[in-house]
Amino acid sequence: MGFKQDFVWGAATASYQIEGAAYEGGKGLSNWDVFCKQPGNIYENHNGDVACDHYHHLAEDVALMKELGIKAYRFSFSWPRLMPQGTGTVNPDGIRFYQTLIDELLQNGITPYATLFHWDYPYALQKRGGWLNPASPQWFAEYTETIIGLFGNKIKHFFTFNEPQCFIGLAFTGREMAPKLQVTRRDILQMAHNVLLAHGKAVQLLRAGVPGCKIGYAPTGSTYIPASNSAQDIEAARKATFTVDVNGDWPMGISWWSDPIFFGEYPAEAAQAFGDDMPAIGPNDMKIISQPLDFYGHNIYNSTPVKMGENGQPVVQAFKPGHPRTAVNWPITPEGLYWAPKFLHQRYKLPVIITENGLSCHDVVSLDGKVHDPNRIDFTQRYLQQLQRAAQDGVEVDGYFHWSLMDNFEWAKGYSERFGLIYVDFETQKRTPKDSFYWYASIINSNGSLL
Ligand code: NOJ
Repeated sequence: MGFKQDFVWGAATASYQIEGAAYEGGKGLSNWDVFCKQPGNIYENHNGDVACDHYHHLAEDVALMKELGIKAYRFSFSWPRLMPQGTGTVNPDGIRFYQTLIDELLQNGITPYATLFHWDYPYALQKRGGWLNPASPQWFAEYTETIIGLFGNKIKHFFTFNEPQCFIGLAFTGREMAPKLQVTRRDILQMAHNVLLAHGKAVQLLRAGVPGCKIGYAPTGSTYIPASNSAQDIEAARKATFTVDVNGDWPMGISWWSDPIFFGEYPAEAAQAFGDDMPAIGPNDMKIISQPLDFYGHNIYNSTPVKMGENGQPVVQAFKPGHPRTAVNWPITPEGLYWAPKFLHQRYKLPVIITENGLSCHDVVSLDGKVHDPNRIDFTQRYLQQLQRAAQDGVEVDGYFHWSLMDNFEWAKGYSERFGLIYVDFETQKRTPKDSFYWYASIINSNGSLL
């Protein structure tokens, strides 16, 4: 048995990375609009002002999705495009844009999987303290209600947040994400709590407002693979995947962001270690946060090998010299797509959807006018084979969204990285499907049997 008959083959994008039209159609400023204009934040001071100009190429882009044969498209709403000030007034042009997108998708037989928030935060709300403001979960609830009122009759699949590990964890430990601030651990924990509350409130509203909808979450988080097939190393990988590294990079881990949602409590040992830095938790907070979900989404690109140490703790293993890497030096570790879904399914007991997976290559348009990207085909084939193996082993795997449908604005790396199945010439906006596009189409068409 491989992938189930109704396996969801998809591709993903995010609003700020593709839409462009940053100052058009009544859109409000986002944190990323502002961040990109501060010299030094982004590779060669690129920005998302135009990006893939998807705002004006929507019909062409959906036609390409149809040609690709994807069953589902994961996109995100731009909060400031819909609500320029973050709360209050709703922008009619923003409504029209998403209405057209959703209608085009449905007319072409592509199921919309909408992410409510993929990092472009209304600047008006950032100025009011953003996720640190106690009202922030309510702001998000209002935004969610707006989406439900506008599109709830047509969209039945939702993800609340994309990678809180990055828009909180990286962004507020001074790393490359907007607004790139270094704040105290106490503030990060408070923001995390507010994001989790916002997630829970959104789920409650979606359940009530969109009967029968399916809801997930699209976190990421470091994942680990066993260095050998021994039971000890497998246990080491599981342990490393779910340990909260309180003295290290805990905001990039999985459990701090997922245990409260699925178990209704923060990881106890870590919470104790954080001591007085822990936020005040209201009597209903954990109940709100832990609304049942329908699937476990995970964005995964690579994993780290570990062995069980003599002291019963996982020990990270270095990659062998010459280990395969992507164009931007990310290690290639296909087995991660076997072990991570397995561990996540065992722990959180929900079907798994891979909400992102892919790689950046040095793609060029060749003299024959085509884009030959054998590395992307090889990478994706290896990863999908491992996902298939997980499915064969009984892990409930519901879907896979390739990152990304098209080359786009790769945050702090600007346009220096190309993650797409479709090549985008950012000068002319010409789209050229890469070889991997046709390969992926054939895999979808065979429901994975050609892997
Ligand atoms: C994760 C993020 O969700 C997405 O926005 C980003 O482009 C990809 N990873 C690749 O880095």
